[in-house]
Amino acid sequence: MDAIIFHEESKTFKLIAGESNYVLQITPKGQIAHRYWGAPVRDFDLRAMLDLAGGACIDENDENILDESNETFHAEYPGGGAGDWRIPAVTALAQDGSSAVDLRYVSHEIFDGKPALKGLPATYANSSDEAQTLAITVKDKYCGLSAVLYYTVFDGSNAIARHSVLRNDGDTPLSLNYVMSVCVDFPSMDYKMLGLYGAWARERHVEWKPLRRGGQNIQSRRGFSSAQFNPFTALAAPNADEKSGEVYGFSLVYSGSFLIEAEVDVKETTRVVMGINPYDFAWKLDAGEEFTTPEAVLVYSGAGYGEMSRTYHKLYSKNLCRGQWRDKRRPILINNWEATYFKFNADKLVQLAKLAEKQGIEMLVMDDGWFGKRENDHSGLGDWYVNEEKLGCSLDELVNRVNDAGLKFGIWFEPEMVNPDSNLYRAHPDWALAMPTRPRTLGRNQMVLDMSRKEVQDYLVERISDILNSANISYVKWDCNRFITEAFSCALPAERGREIWHRYMLGLYGVLEHLVTAFPKVLFESCASGGARFDPAMLHYMPQTWASDNTDAIDRLKIQYGTSFVYPIRTIGAHVSATPNHQTGRTTPFMTRGDVALQGTFGYELDLAKLSEGDYDQIEDQVDRYHEYQKVIFNGDFYRLISPFDDLTQAAWMYVSADKKNALVQCVMQIMTANHPPRRVKLQGLDPAGFYKIEELGVTMHGDTLMNLGFIIPEVYGDHQSVCLTIKRKG
Ligand code: DGJ
Repeated sequence: MDAIIFHEESKTFKLIAGESNYVLQITPKGQIAHRYWGAPVRDFDLRAMLDLAGGACIDENDENILDESNETFHAEYPGGGAGDWRIPAVTALAQDGSSAVDLRYVSHEIFDGKPALKGLPATYANSSDEAQTLAITVKDKYCGLSAVLYYTVFDGSNAIARHSVLRNDGDTPLSLNYVMSVCVDFPSMDYKMLGLYGAWARERHVEWKPLRRGGQNIQSRRGFSSAQFNPFTALAAPNADEKSGEVYGFSLVYSGSFLIEAEVDVKETTRVVMGINPYDFAWKLDAGEEFTTPEAVLVYSGAGYGEMSRTYHKLYSKNLCRGQWRDKRRPILINNWEATYFKFNADKLVQLAKLAEKQGIEMLVMDDGWFGKRENDHSGLGDWYVNEEKLGCSLDELVNRVNDAGLKFGIWFEPEMVNPDSNLYRAHPDWALAMPTRPRTLGRNQMVLDMSRKEVQDYLVERISDILNSANISYVKWDCNRFITEAFSCALPAERGREIWHRYMLGLYGVLEHLVTAFPKVLFESCASGGARFDPAMLHYMPQTWASDNTDAIDRLKIQYGTSFVYPIRTIGAHVSATPNHQTGRTTPFMTRGDVALQGTFGYELDLAKLSEGDYDQIEDQVDRYHEYQKVIFNGDFYRLISPFDDLTQAAWMYVSADKKNALVQCVMQIMTANHPPRRVKLQGLDPAGFYKIEELGVTMHGDTLMNLGFIIPEVYGDHQSVCLTIKRKG
C-alpha cells in the first residue's frame, strides 16, 4: 500500500484514507501541526491556506516557542500549560509540581500493517498489505515525556485509526492526569454535533446540536461506556443529511469512562478530543514506563451520515470483530429470560427447546438463575457453580437433553459482579470494589468485582472455563448489570489508586482475551442491562451485543436506528418477544416484531408454550423470512431511509447486496392515521442503470427511478404494521 506519503521538502505527511486525505506537518521548530482532513487535495504544503497569524505567545527568536501562535495552533497532540489554553490532548504532572507538556518531533517511521495495542482491543489488518501505519515519535525535552503517535489507514476505507504510546524517558515519575487518544482541530465552527444518548431501555437515541462557542462534551463517568452516552460523536456540515454533506465520525474503542469534548475557540475554530475520561483518573508513569491510550477510529464521509455509517460497518465487521463467528451466520436463538425470568428448571427449558425446534429455532439460551443461590437478583452472583437442585439435573444432562431436542445450548454469566449474599463475597470481601472507610453503594443488590486483581481474573477464568468444559456449550451471554461506584482497589498502593478505572478495563480485556482464545468455537454476546456497553471494544471480543432490554418493536425502531450510526447490523442483538410488551405494555403485530428483529442477529425471547396456533404459523413465516433475507442483512450495505425520530408515522430502511443484485426494504407504520397522505420512499444504493423488480408490488423499474422518484409505501391498516419488499435485479 502506498497510502502514507512523506513530502520531504515541506515536511508534510499525507494520509490517503480511501477517498479522504489527512494532512499533518512538522513545523521548523518541530511541532506536529494538523493541516487538513477531508476530501482529497493535491497539494502538500497547506500553510498558505490557513490562518496562522495573530494571537499571543509568539517569539520567533526563541527556539522553544512555537512557529505559529500557540493560542491558535492546529496541533496533532497538544500538551497543556505552554500558551495553548484550549483543551489539551495530554498533561503530565512532574515531581516538582509543574505540568506543562510540549511534544516536538524526534523521528518517524512508515510501515505496512498495523501494530497491536498492548492489552487493549483495537482494529487490526487481516494481512500486512491491507493497512499502512505512520508512527511519529515526539518528545518534551523538559519533563521527559515522549510519545509515539500512531496513524493507520486501511485499504479502500475512509477510516483512520489513531492511538498514542506515552513513555517516561526522564529519571523521576510523572503523573498522567489527562491523556486523550486523539485530537483534531477543524478550521471552523460550522458543524452540528451528534450524540447517541439514552438510558436503560432507551439506548442510543439520536440528537444533533449545532456547535456553540466554548466547550461541549459527551461522556461517561460511570466506569463503563454506558447507555447514557455512547463513545461516539460526529461533526457534520449544518446541511448534511443521510445522503449528502461532509461528516466526521469519532469512535472510541473503549468500554470504560470516556470523554469526547468539542471546543470552539476565539478564532471560531473547533478542537475535538476523545479518550479516557480524565475525571478521577491519574496514572503514575515511573521512569522508563509506557502507557498506551485506547484506539480512536476516525471516519470521513463526503456523502452524508449514511456513508459514514457504512464505513464503520465495514471496518468493524472485518477489522475489529474476530474469530470463527465473525462472518458466520448466527443461530436463531430462544432466550428464556422474558419467558420465565428466574422461575425455571431443566424440564421447563427442555419443553421450550422442543417447541422451538418445531419452529426452526436453533439454539436455547439459559439466562440468569442457574447457579449458586439465585431465585431472584438478591443473591448468588459470583458463585459460578451449577445449582443442580434448582435445575433438577446436572448441566451436562440438561445440555444433552436440549441437544437431543435438536438445539444448541447457550448460557448466561455476569462475571464482573458479586452479591454480598454469596459464598464468593463471604470468602473474599476484598475482591469487590469498595472504600473501606465508606458505606458501599449497591446497584441491583450487587457490587462490582475488582477486575484489576490477578486473583479475581484467575477465579473467573477458572470458573467460566470449568463450566464451558463441563458440557456442550455453544454460546455465552456476558452480562454486566450496574455501574462502578466507590472505585477503590484494596490491592493498589495509594499513589496508584486512581488508576483503578483503567486497570479494571485492562483486567476485563485480559480475561476476555483468555476466554475467547481458549473457546474459539463458542459464540460470545455482550450485554449490560441491555445495551449499556454497546461499544467497539466489546465487539473485538464478542461479535454481537444485546442492544436493549426494551424488546418493544416500536421503541426498538429508534434504538436500532441510533445503533446503526456506528455498529454493523450483524452485531445488533434483537429478539421477538411477547405482547403486551413487558417494558412498554404495547401490543404490536407478531409479524412486525419479527421484521424489526430481523434488523440484527434475530432470535426469540418469550414462552412458546403460551402461544396460539396462529402465532406458531407466524414464527414459521418469520424463520423462513430470516433464511431468505439473512445474507443480504448480514453482508449487505445498510441504508436508513426514513428516520423514526423525524417521521412520527413511518420508519424505513434497506439492505443492498455487495453485487447490487438483491435488496430488502423494510417499513414500519409507527402510528396509523386515517386518510393520511401517501408516504413516498426513495431507495438508495442500487445500480442506477440496473433493472429491478419489487416482487411484492410486481413492478419493475430502473434503479435511478426507484432512487430518484421513489414509490409509495404500500397501504397498511392499523398501528405498527410492517411491510417487507424484496427487490431483485432483472437486468
Ligand atoms: C440484564 C439483561 O439485559 C437481560 O437480558 C437479562 O439477561 C437480565 N440481565 C438477567 O438478569
